[in-house]
Amino acid sequence: MSKYDNSFTDELRQRLSIIDVINRRVPLVKKGQNYWGCCPFHNEKTPSFSVNEDKGFYHCFGCGEHGDIISFVMKSENLEFKEAIKELADMAGLKMPEFRQKTQQQIEAEETYVKITEKAAEIYQNLLYGESGRVALDYIKNRGFSDEMIKKYRIGYAPRGNVIASHFSNIKIDKLIATGLVRVGDRGPYDFFRDKLMFPIFNAHGQIVAFSGRSLDGSEPKYINTTDTELFHKRQTIFGFNFARESIHRNNRSIIVEGQIDAIQMQNHGFPETVAPLGTALTEDHIAILCKSNRNIVFCFDGDNAGQKAAIRAATLVLPFLRETSDIKFAFVTGGKDPDEILKTHGESAMRKIIDDATPLIDFLWNVVNKNYLINTPGGRTSAEKYLKDCISKISDKIFQNEIEQEFNQRKFNQWHKWKKTEYKPTIELPDTDIMPINIIKSIVQKYPMISEKYLDFLTSLNISFDDENVPDTDLSLDAAEKFIVSYKLRKYVEKLNLEKQEIISNALKNNIDCKESISEIDNKISDANEKLELLLDINNK
Ligand code: GTP
Ligand code: MN
Repeated sequence: MSKYDNSFTDELRQRLSIIDVINRRVPLVKKGQNYWGCCPFHNEKTPSFSVNEDKGFYHCFGCGEHGDIISFVMKSENLEFKEAIKELADMAGLKMPEFRQKTQQQIEAEETYVKITEKAAEIYQNLLYGESGRVALDYIKNRGFSDEMIKKYRIGYAPRGNVIASHFSNIKIDKLIATGLVRVGDRGPYDFFRDKLMFPIFNAHGQIVAFSGRSLDGSEPKYINTTDTELFHKRQTIFGFNFARESIHRNNRSIIVEGQIDAIQMQNHGFPETVAPLGTALTEDHIAILCKSNRNIVFCFDGDNAGQKAAIRAATLVLPFLRETSDIKFAFVTGGKDPDEILKTHGESAMRKIIDDATPLIDFLWNVVNKNYLINTPGGRTSAEKYLKDCISKISDKIFQNEIEQEFNQRKFNQWHKWKKTEYKPTIELPDTDIMPINIIKSIVQKYPMISEKYLDFLTSLNISFDDENVPDTDLSLDAAEKFIVSYKLRKYVEKLNLEKQEIISNALKNNIDCKESISEIDNKISDANEKLELLLDINNK
């Protein structure tokens, strides 16, 4: 298999959780670190088939079968390697690449690439500690980086001039260009990074694949990164992941911050599970990679408007990865610009408070709609509902999706519609209603806020409290629930007409007046209403 270009299989392993792949055929239950189920490869009644999501492997303690997502699909569906890859690619929503054997040339090219970037990092670090790097070294030390941290993160300095181009002048220029460190202009090869504080970017295995350079003289752009290369894809690389990996596993969560200096400072001040996307945009791939370890993420954004926007984007991206066991939270930095500043000025405990106080995803989304839509208008509520509906539809687990929908419905009813009830003064007085249908109505109102809104006047006129905690759950569908309310309303209407009729008659008797006309008018109304009612019940029974 290693003869093949394994970047695509790596991508599949990165994209897909082995739990999702196996769960399609074998129901799995989480117990401790692993998931367990009955082995599909031998006959058994008690589970001895264990799956480790983090490592991406399954192992059966009964029959000894073990492997990864690819071997699972191959064995369980009796497929060839390529067919299995195709199926997994479909599942991940990825296009199948042309499968070709890796040529000797390619293998060598990759080796050369890493050799160059590793050497470049070494050169940059030597320069940081040399004469030309004085300003850069002062700068990074001033930002609270110890020598130990500088060594660990292999921070360096790229001076003005062409150190890399000249150091590697004996290497074929194409190989240098491939790393993104050198470009070719009218006057020959030149270094891409000049007068920059250099942060190596590592892949998940700890190899340097790119660099991020920070300007030191206040010039814009503040950061420049290696543009994408064969071995570096910005959308799929998470800064600090190689260092954080083990802690993400051990602490059972990851923290995502906006900047790379923030990530480094967090990792070194009590939050080793912290990472950052590269540049500003978080991608689905970043989340997929983190969700391979566990689905517990604290997003930590700057407290400004941009941070809010980024958080909304992150929430949208994370929804498809939600499981009922996921713990996704949103923290916003206040009292300072970013985590780096908080750690510096207020210390680790202040930062811990920000992380501990993070808002759960559901509350965050609820706050977002309440802040961004005019909830006290029907139009605003409609837009908000559409937004929430769209969010909910992104959750892939149907039962969980349903649960979240109910949660929002509850909030809509309790928080959007309650205020009207107290303001409304009923114009018609109705006699007390029997308890049974009232309970059904209460449960309908809880489950379907949209019905409550539509028949708000009528429901309010019933003069009953909907605040009851112990409302039974209704199993009526939305349609049936609406019919129930309408038929109940019709019955009440008929009741009211009958009362009116009696009043007219007694009044006519008392005052000796002719009431034939008003009686026939009211009789017509009653028979109209009864007809509608019959029709409704008829439909109900079908
Ligand atoms: P410092 O000033 O060094 O502390 O950076 P910061 O992380 O506080 O910067 P900021 O909050 O402005 O930006 C957050 C992250 O966005 C940075 O860490 C970079 O990864 C990225 N970023 C910021 N400015 C630029 C830019 O001009 N170009 C690119 N490509 N990325 C940037
Ligand atoms: Mn900063």
